[in-house]
Amino acid sequence: MKTYSIAVLPGDGIGPEVIAQAVRVLEAVGERFDVRFALRTFPVGAAGVAAAKDPLPGETRAAVVRSDAVLLGAVGDPSLDHAPRELRPETGLLALRKLLNVYANLRPVAVHPALVGASPLKPERLRGVDLLVVRELTGGLYPTSATNTLAYTAAEIERVARVAFEAARGRRRLVTSVDKANVLEVSQLWRETVTRVARNYPTVRLEHAYVDTAAMRLVSDPATFDVVLTENMFGDILSDEAAVLAGSLGLLPSASLGEGPGLFEPVHGSAPSLAGKDVANPIGAIATVALLLRHGLKLADAADAVDGAIAAALDAGARTQDLVRPGELGARISQLILAEALEGRS
Ligand code: IPM
Ligand code: MN
Repeated sequence: MKTYSIAVLPGDGIGPEVIAQAVRVLEAVGERFDVRFALRTFPVGAAGVAAAKDPLPGETRAAVVRSDAVLLGAVGDPSLDHAPRELRPETGLLALRKLLNVYANLRPVAVHPALVGASPLKPERLRGVDLLVVRELTGGLYPTSATNTLAYTAAEIERVARVAFEAARGRRRLVTSVDKANVLEVSQLWRETVTRVARNYPTVRLEHAYVDTAAMRLVSDPATFDVVLTENMFGDILSDEAAVLAGSLGLLPSASLGEGPGLFEPVHGSAPSLAGKDVANPIGAIATVALLLRHGLKLADAADAVDGAIAAALDAGARTQDLVRPGELGARISQLILAEALEGRS
């Protein structure tokens, strides 16, 4: 039986509890699809600071580079908000992305039909929404004392653009490249480079949009997007905006890909006020397991089983408090998903 080594980094806040649920699902699909996962847990973020005075401790670094994939919960802790930069939980996450060189961050957003009412947008706006944000993840803004420099090389733009075009080929074959080329020189390079990469993908249509217009279109006409390709900070902002379409940030997964092991984490943060009550939505973390199986380990059948199990649980009415009040407990939602994933009813 094939064994994959997975480094599990629960992190802070609700990270540990949603990752505990995600790990149960991972083990269940492993059984069903005859693969083994060797899971080892390591600290990151505030947990790293507590364990080793470092948001990305040495033992965590050593483990992630040797793993087949990394599953991360969330980082962030209000008690460290005013700590020096090198002790901030977020610094650990940024260092981890750099260490793994995961330059392409995939953030899919789809609207499950049963959740249309959970979004503040009108139902007719949400019909057909199924988009993928491809966010450049390791370059862009760099601090230099109190000014920041937004820098990209053509090579950095090319490699993330290829990820977007490859993804579009398996979807609706449209890439919307988002930039600010009317103001920023770096965006002009972005636009030229993406246009050049597009020539290798003749079946995919490319359009360019300015980030301000794209932000507006994401709420006025979200179904017109397929793959959204953009630089690091625009992608950070637009992917949170897109999350509103799905009904809750708590539903959304992400995959960060490079050449080595991928880094897989839900899009939501550590939500300290929810921690320890089992009220957080575990679906973001469980959908992240599906991305880990699909993109990290190339186990498409197992990934489909997890996605199917999530959809079935939502169809059956599973809702945490981010979607409906009062909501159900996270453990009960993952129990439903687990039953689906194990029994193959998906
Ligand atoms: C995200 C987060 C991170 C980012 C923070 C926590 C550093 O907002 O993953 O989107 O800005 O990338
Ligand atoms: Mn963000």
